[in-house]
Amino acid sequence: MSTIILGIESSCDDTSAAVIKDGYLLSNVIASQAVHMAYGGVVPELASRAHQQNIVPVVDQALKQAGVKKEELSAVAFTRGPGLMGSLLVGVSFAKGFARSLGIPMIDVNHLTGHVLANFIKVEGEPNEVPQFPFLCLLVSGGNSQIILVKSYKDMEILGQTIDDAAGEAIDKCSKVMGLGYPGGPIIDKLARQGDPKAFSFNKPHIPGLDYSFSGLKTSFLYSLKKWIADDPDFVEHHKTDLAASLEATIVDILMDKLRKAAKQYNIKEVALAGGVSANNGLRNAFRDHAKRYGWKIFIPKFSYTTDNAAMIAITGYYKYQDQDFCPIEAPAYSRVSIK
Ligand code: KG4
Repeated sequence: MSTIILGIESSCDDTSAAVIKDGYLLSNVIASQAVHMAYGGVVPELASRAHQQNIVPVVDQALKQAGVKKEELSAVAFTRGPGLMGSLLVGVSFAKGFARSLGIPMIDVNHLTGHVLANFIKVEGEPNEVPQFPFLCLLVSGGNSQIILVKSYKDMEILGQTIDDAAGEAIDKCSKVMGLGYPGGPIIDKLARQGDPKAFSFNKPHIPGLDYSFSGLKTSFLYSLKKWIADDPDFVEHHKTDLAASLEATIVDILMDKLRKAAKQYNIKEVALAGGVSANNGLRNAFRDHAKRYGWKIFIPKFSYTTDNAAMIAITGYYKYQDQDFCPIEAPAYSRVSIK
């Protein structure tokens, strides 16, 4: 008999539902919330209200697109945390009610585990090559920058992580002070393609081991920019492509330096990328370059599986279903905690 999992994701500002059948993705519907743009960041209260409006139509559409009736579902997987509490509660409550009404198991998923396992999403008719265990995963998102040793679907060890800001957070803040808009990642990426990555140089951190730090870079960027703008009020307008390219190159270098160190230390050549920042072209190019230079076998999920999405929650749910690893109805959402 087939295993059909409905995945639900609502940890931040995207409401998403996806259906996976026997490991193959049938649908992945994402409703993004434009309401936050005017504020230059996610407003938690507005996010949870938007989730409430979106959740039913998004799940409905995911089932319709998949051609699956709700009675055919084997289980409902949902993001239990970490994330914004008000946002999580909408998905968690919906998932529990939906599963209970259908009399099927519920599966709680750690959002970060989901990002890593996005590398295992398969689509009918596509090559679907997946990493072999153990492999390294660089997880870079708005809230996390981690190097993870993935030993199996459920055994992951964080080898290094940021001690302050995440890479995405630094990009978003720098973009905001340049007046470029929110979220900064895609804007910086686009501008960087037309700029000179060597035009400006910014401080790089000296953190021992495999940990990261991005707050020093952010501060040095903001400080330099203030000085330049004092001399020339149109400085950003004149130099935005070079600024974006130099900032992106510095962040990519910081990320890759530690990843290379980890790969050497653990003697691993299978390296995957995950999280929203993995959409970045500079980082993707650096991965390809490392594959050529160091013989890495690299895995970069499709763009739609790298930012917040329910397909990654559904695939994690699919693997947990194999182990009959279900969650009791009283399991609460959690806002903080790293990988489980
Ligand atoms: O994983 P994600 O969708 O969710 C959170 O962690 O909230 O990651 C969002 C982050 C944001 O910081 C966004 O600016 C960044 O991913 N991002 C990018 C790009 N697309 C999204 N950063 C750099 N280049 C991109 N193309």
